[in-house]
Amino acid sequence: MRKLNLDYIDLFQLHSPQVKHLTDDVFETLELFKSQGKIRNIGVSCDGKVLDHVLNLDFFDTVMLTYNILEQEADNQIKKAAQKNIGVLIKSPMAHGLYSNDIFKIRGLSDVWYLLRVLKNYRPQLFKGYKYRYINSYPDWKGAEIALKFVIENQFVNAAMIGTTKTHHLNSNINVVQREINQEIMQKLRRQIN
Ligand SMILES: NC(=O)c1ccc[n+]([C@@H]2O[C@H](COP(=O)([O-])OP(=O)(O)OC[C@H]3O[C@@H](n4cnc5c(N)ncnc54)[C@H](OP(=O)(O)O)[C@@H]3O)[C@@H](O)[C@H]2O)c1
Repeated sequence: MRKLNLDYIDLFQLHSPQVKHLTDDVFETLELFKSQGKIRNIGVSCDGKVLDHVLNLDFFDTVMLTYNILEQEADNQIKKAAQKNIGVLIKSPMAHGLYSNDIFKIRGLSDVWYLLRVLKNYRPQLFKGYKYRYINSYPDWKGAEIALKFVIENQFVNAAMIGTTKTHHLNSNINVVQREINQEIMQKLRRQIN
């Protein structure tokens, strides 16, 4: 906190723990930080079975989970979190650009990094992304904007955590929030079977 020049942290998140890490000892320590005013909210970033486990505990203020056009499996978990009044934050909302026509195009160092990350962590999903390339063909919308709109149109999602290295992408992502989209595009994405 000294290094961040902060008196307290608004949201303190556990990063991808396993169930075995979520012990009483950890919870008591986090509660202590909260009672001391060092942190305001406690969150956890997780998916799958760990997320199921977390949603059955009455401890976390927020969960951060993977949800995007290619990975819609968390739909029910998102609803459950909202019903329990747990804030829902989405990680990787742009699906790492796997639907992009330019995924193999290298225009700068960041593209090299992103491509290597895809090849290392998301290689099995490359083919899946190929099937979503049609989202780059709608008039007035870029594929990335449609992908983001899909995530934030979910009424139970509170925020999408977007990664970008470009100011014009950041601006476009902010503008997407206010724009109206044809619901048929959204429904087609929801119906799509990978
Ligand atoms: N275990 C975890 O807790 C975990 C795991 C994964 C991710 N996360 C978090 O989730 C957040 C986002 O994740 P992420 O960066 O992996 O995935 P992401 O936001 O789904 O995708 C980032 C990709 O989208 C591109 N992009 C963003 N806006 C764009 C736009 N308007 N048009 C075209 N391309 C656009 C970026 O390229 P440009 O740079 O060219 O814009 C980048 O290639 C981060 O804060 C990350 O730390 C957490």
